[in-house]
Order: sequence, then C-alpha cells, then structure tokens
Amino acid sequence: MPFKLIVNGRPTTVDVPADMPLLWVIRDVLNLRGTKFGCGAGLCGACTVHLNGQAVRSCQTLVSAAANAQITTLEGLSPNASHAVQLAWQELDVPQCGYCQAGQMMSAAALLAHTPSPTDQDIDDAMNGNICRCGTYLRIRPAIHRAAVIAQNGSPQPAQSAQNLAGKD
Ligand code: FES
Ligand code: FES
Repeated sequence: MPFKLIVNGRPTTVDVPADMPLLWVIRDVLNLRGTKFGCGAGLCGACTVHLNGQAVRSCQTLVSAAANAQITTLEGLSPNASHAVQLAWQELDVPQCGYCQAGQMMSAAALLAHTPSPTDQDIDDAMNGNICRCGTYLRIRPAIHRAAVIAQNGSPQPAQSAQNLAGKD
C-alpha cells in the first residue's frame, strides 16, 4: 500500500507492505545505501536514522510508523559532508572498516542536536547501542566532543589536537 515519506527533506511515495522495515525501504526501494544492515534485530545500530530528529533503528521501524514523518539518513545529514559530526569524524580519522560509521554518526548527530555540550556520560549513554566491531570507540567519544566545539564555533579550528583528542588506540 502507498505511504508518503519525507526523506532528507524530499516527499516521496512508496508502495510497499505496511510491515516492511524502514531500512528495507531506504536501501532497496529508495536506493540510499549509506544506511547499513548489520543485525536486523535492533542490536547493533548500523541502521540508525533520524525520525523527527530522534535516532531510531530503521530495521525495527515499520514503514507505516514512518509515514509523514521527517526521515533523515546519512545522505541528508548535510549537502556536502559539512555537518559538525562529519567534519570531526574526518579530522580524527574515526572509521576503520567504516561499516558501522553511518549509524555512529547519526546517533552522534541526534545527541548533539539535543545536548550541544555532552558529557562523557551523555555520550556513553547515547552511543551505547552502536556497536563497532573494529573498536573505534576510543576515537568516537573525542570526535563527539570535537563535533560539539565545531558546531558551536561554526567552523573547525586547526586543532589543538586531533591527536590529543584522539588519544591512542
Ligand atoms: S541492523 Fe538495525 S540495529 Fe542492527
Ligand atoms: S569501523 Fe568497522 S565496524 Fe566500526
């Protein structure tokens, strides 16, 4: 049946079963492949997108529950990879294999939208469900702190320290 979706600001209509997971619609119907399938069971966070600004697991969200809502995928985070999270991720060279990173960035962006200066605990709480098999956690937390600074300053400062912020891993 037809559902009206608003994906990255663009209205679209998809004709799919009501119980189809949003992840399937995003990847296989709309052909937006930034969002990843990891576990399909709500356990890894690779499929994280924003639904009306909240980070949700798209593998556990039915398309019917997303009708008429604002859906944002990694492709819609910014027009040119200029979102503070994307800049910080590049600066601190966060990804390793990269598979989990769309979900990590979407969770981080949702956190910063609601909590512009998160504490370590805020970050750990928000990112708890995003699993990285490569163990990039030691760069993710500093990158979120860095993204908070970039977002507040409007542009990245050549930093004092990608290295200091990144620590060792
Ligand atoms: S694919 Fe959705 S949480 Fe793992
Ligand atoms: S960078 Fe490889 S799974 Fe996270």
